[in-house]
Amino acid sequence: MSNQELQALKERYVAAGAASPNEQFADHALNAELWDADGKRMIDFAGGIGVLNIGHRHPKVVEAVKAQLDKLMHTCQTVMPYEGYVKLAQKLSEVVPVRGHGKVMLANSGAEALENAVKIARAATGKTNVICFDGGYHGRTFMTMAMNGKAAPYQTDFGPMPGMVYRAPYPVPYHGVSEDEALRGLAMTMKADSPARNTAAIVLEPVLGEGGFYPAPKSFLEKVRKICDDNDILMIVDEVQSGFGRTGKMFAIEHSGVEPDIMTMAKSMADGMPISAIVGTDKVMDSSGPNSLGGTYTGSPTACAAALAVFDVFKEEDILGKSQRLGEKLKARFAQWQEQFEHVDNVRNLGPMAAIELVESKDSHKPMPELAAAVTKKAKEKGLILLSCGMYGNTLRFLMPVTIEDKILEEGLAIVEESLKEAGA
Ligand SMILES: Cc1ncc(COP(=O)(O)O)c(C=O)c1O
Repeated sequence: MSNQELQALKERYVAAGAASPNEQFADHALNAELWDADGKRMIDFAGGIGVLNIGHRHPKVVEAVKAQLDKLMHTCQTVMPYEGYVKLAQKLSEVVPVRGHGKVMLANSGAEALENAVKIARAATGKTNVICFDGGYHGRTFMTMAMNGKAAPYQTDFGPMPGMVYRAPYPVPYHGVSEDEALRGLAMTMKADSPARNTAAIVLEPVLGEGGFYPAPKSFLEKVRKICDDNDILMIVDEVQSGFGRTGKMFAIEHSGVEPDIMTMAKSMADGMPISAIVGTDKVMDSSGPNSLGGTYTGSPTACAAALAVFDVFKEEDILGKSQRLGEKLKARFAQWQEQFEHVDNVRNLGPMAAIELVESKDSHKPMPELAAAVTKKAKEKGLILLSCGMYGNTLRFLMPVTIEDKILEEGLAIVEESLKEAGA
């Protein structure tokens, strides 16, 4: 079917709140390229929002999933467990930098991972509250909606939100929140709303994802760790978007050396198969009763097979090395754009978790979301999928596979450059 025919079906049958505004329909894809239903080729700088760090349909992953399909598709792991789940738990425990030896629970999505992290933190501490951050994004289930630090569009139609969720400022000096101010804000939240005695966990992304790709300073993460230690609060680090090689290390928190009590991950964990994980210290993870955690599909055999293959690919193809090199290339190109374009500023990257900001001037820092929208629109016309994000909608974020071929990377970056020029940046 053509894009136009599929669009008609979408308009007629898909709920408005769930329908993509994109009138192109994906047909097939490989690594960093995708073809739509009309055969138009697109370069993919979105990677399904950070899911495809090793590219669309990595052959090793496809092969592993096919082999699994020939053996076993489902039992519900609480009814009868299987090899993939426990082997993946072992792998995750070996690489995830939580304190001490880690134990694992698998789930289906990022939001579900955060839900379970909060459940586990409550069970482990006997306390109720969670403190999250402005600009943070954790999902679209009820608890995670309440935890998001951006009300529209995630919460606005769906209240009331669950209680016991409090918020503190995230350090974004470019937009007026210094590290000190963020720490003062956190102290105030703990004074005014959520005292340590009631706070089970502080939940944060080491690099804000939807909130704008702002990395938290190492010293901020260290101080949050200390606040948690001093007050018997668990530190939950949400690496759903920043994990699995997106920042040049397996997990973004490794850049700081800080070890959380619980970490959540999903997205690039299984190259597009739906799976997520909650990894925490043994004691914390073992704190809830029998059959208190799980779900029919959690850690499905096919998703586990994909995730195990992803680990092999990371090793065999030096994905972290590729990620670091891609980060360097983006950094150099962004510095050039910052010089070249009047409205491009605050270019930043932690590895290839990279972004640029569109602002009225380099003095005012006033966000220009309309310019970001114009650039992504132009890019789309020219055959590039490019995403904006951020509290102000003025950040362009780059989430191309780290396995992208040099030639295609160049072609994509040239399209961004032309789009910036034509949109008046
Ligand atoms: C940091 C972070 N946490 C949680 C989520 C929610 O993940 P999911 O959409 O798989 O529920 C996202 C999704 O973008 C995310 O970026």
